[in-house]
Amino acid sequence: MAAQRGEFSSRLGFILAAAGSAVGLGNIWKFPFEVGNGGGGAFVVMYLIFCFLLCFPVMVAEIAIGRKTQKNAVGAFVALNKPRWSFIGKLGILSGFLILSFYNVVAGWAFGYVIEMVSGNFDIGQHFGEFVSNWMRVGLYGLVFMGTTAYIVSHGVQGGIEKAAKLLMPSLIIIMVVLLVYALTLPGAMDGIKFYLIPDFSKITGPVVYSALGQAFFSLSLGMGALITYGSYLNKDQNIIQSTAMITLMDVGIAFLAGLMLFPFVFSQGVEPTGGAGLIFITLPGVFEELGPNMGVIVGSLFFLLLSFAALTSTVSLLEVPVAYVVDEHNVPRKRAVWLTAFLVFLIGVPSLLSNGASSILTNFVQIIGMAREGATDHSFMTFIGWVANDTFLPFGGMMISIFAAYIWKKENLAEELSHGDENYKGSIIEKYINFAISFLAPVVLSAIFVLTVLSRFFGIDLVG
Ligand code: PFF
Repeated sequence: MAAQRGEFSSRLGFILAAAGSAVGLGNIWKFPFEVGNGGGGAFVVMYLIFCFLLCFPVMVAEIAIGRKTQKNAVGAFVALNKPRWSFIGKLGILSGFLILSFYNVVAGWAFGYVIEMVSGNFDIGQHFGEFVSNWMRVGLYGLVFMGTTAYIVSHGVQGGIEKAAKLLMPSLIIIMVVLLVYALTLPGAMDGIKFYLIPDFSKITGPVVYSALGQAFFSLSLGMGALITYGSYLNKDQNIIQSTAMITLMDVGIAFLAGLMLFPFVFSQGVEPTGGAGLIFITLPGVFEELGPNMGVIVGSLFFLLLSFAALTSTVSLLEVPVAYVVDEHNVPRKRAVWLTAFLVFLIGVPSLLSNGASSILTNFVQIIGMAREGATDHSFMTFIGWVANDTFLPFGGMMISIFAAYIWKKENLAEELSHGDENYKGSIIEKYINFAISFLAPVVLSAIFVLTVLSRFFGIDLVG
């Protein structure tokens, strides 16, 4: 059976694919502006704490459930004789659909920007509003992006997902290092580094903690069964704890380096670092222009290529979640499952595509349904879907997965699975910590996040900014 479903050929293949899922727009687009809004280094510290203390154990649980059952996010719960819990996987598939539907739109922008930068159109930043409201053009970029994602996924685990990750992840790291070294040589770079790294703990407020946690969770691709699915292609000799540590380190490392590269660029041109979501798409092209015509084209194109590569390995994992379900549970051949699912997700993404200026109803959606918060400027349908999927479903899914692993599947069975490939696991301090985290810490913290999100996003009791 396993051979038919596919299997990663090596530990490195699995780590790169899972790190590819984790490293995405969340690291390079979202992380730096969250840092900008959350008081620089103070946010970074919070983020690191959450990644290692809270997210790491949840990731271990997800991968272990997948590897134990060798099944997709829904089938895994059935295989463990707990079919009633398969709602977690179903919710995960729904989250995957929703996230991919808008994620692909932003990935399309990134890809479009590669083309703009190659042709030296640095003005694009000032015309960002026009760019994103031109739905035909951005739709075409999105279609190309979704097509590429589907092409990779259609080639299966080894020939598609693993191969792409082995090509894209090292390229991404090389581009990142080249840009980072260059950024650090720019005048004013040190001011950027200082802003980024010196923590101002007075900035740690409730909303900052909330967004650091949400960011950590989203960035590590947790709570929707992506890692159950990838874990299901992992063989029994692999050490899950070590692999999870590597994946977390790569994700955190790349987010960290993204900031270390970005702030010197921004500060070298004396631009405000709090540009919000526009920091990358609005501010950066102007910064690149200042580097001179040749350098600007090279650096600008490389930067958006980096962003596109990062997004691609993530869209691949987002698409694989529903595809694995359809292939396993409904016996649909992989190629057909992939193209049908991709087409469906693209269609579901059309409202998001239109919600950045093309349709005024969708652009002002949050206001129209009466959920706009004071001071907010972005009211798009796309933002709304982000609240539902990223901010609500993911923490809920993560909480349920932890509760499931600790109390339903049970810690002994989890430990048994984790000791394959790691004979020292049982009785170790890591085991104790993971058990504590999935039994108490994660359920408590994630349910708090879930409640806070629901109250503030959907009931107007603004607790999280
Ligand atoms: N981790 C990705 C990012 O940081 O951009 C987003 C993501 C991918 C979330 C896959 C969830 C997922 F299953």
